[in-house]
Amino acid sequence: MPDRLVPKIIDSINIAGSDNVASFGGLYEGGYHIQHSPQEFAQLVCLLAALGPFSAYLEIGTAAGGTIRFLNDHIQIDRNVVIDDGTHPKAHFWASQNRHCVPNVVDFIGDSHSPEAAHFLSELGLEFDLVSIDADHSYSGAAADWNLIQDYTRPGAIVWFHDILACDGVAALWNELKVQQTVLLETDQFGIGVLKLQ
Ligand SMILES: C[S@@+](CC[C@H](N)C(=O)[O-])C[C@H]1O[C@@H](n2cnc3c(N)ncnc32)[C@H](O)[C@@H]1O
Repeated sequence: MPDRLVPKIIDSINIAGSDNVASFGGLYEGGYHIQHSPQEFAQLVCLLAALGPFSAYLEIGTAAGGTIRFLNDHIQIDRNVVIDDGTHPKAHFWASQNRHCVPNVVDFIGDSHSPEAAHFLSELGLEFDLVSIDADHSYSGAAADWNLIQDYTRPGAIVWFHDILACDGVAALWNELKVQQTVLLETDQFGIGVLKLQ
């Protein structure tokens, strides 16, 4: 999907619905409850659409689930895996509105840092080629998620972070990782950072 389609994708994100217009932008609150700025999320969608299709996507931190639903609307993803502790105030929208629109999805409801989360991934036996880290935004929390995925990603996998500018802990981790990996995108609002693994 070429960059000239970014304005069309922004329109689609606005139609899909924002989780919070004051925080994230968008035109109305509801629908998918997407927790991204439409402008920067559209850049991500266009990039991933150009890089895809993907065989297996792991999303750590899903909340209402609008992001994974929107990605699946626009990108071919064969398998979807969600890890979320279910404590977000909008988490109920995942079960009630968004989950049934995401194909081939399994979820682990619990702490991504727990041994049970690692066991869940181990039992799945998947090698992810797309991963999102948007859960615990402390440095140690995001780094633990980064460490978790290492055993379950294939070489050349795409890993994207949210809040590489908005949250100090994520920013610190991102600044370490970006000199070790190939950076495909850095946006300038909340900050979406996309890496291609070695
Ligand atoms: C910022 S929200 C995710 C937003 C989502 N990626 C989106 O684009 O709509 C962070 C989510 O991660 C969850 N979370 C935070 N720490 C977690 C942890 N250690 N394990 C699992 N989920 C966690 C929160 O409950 C929340 O649902």
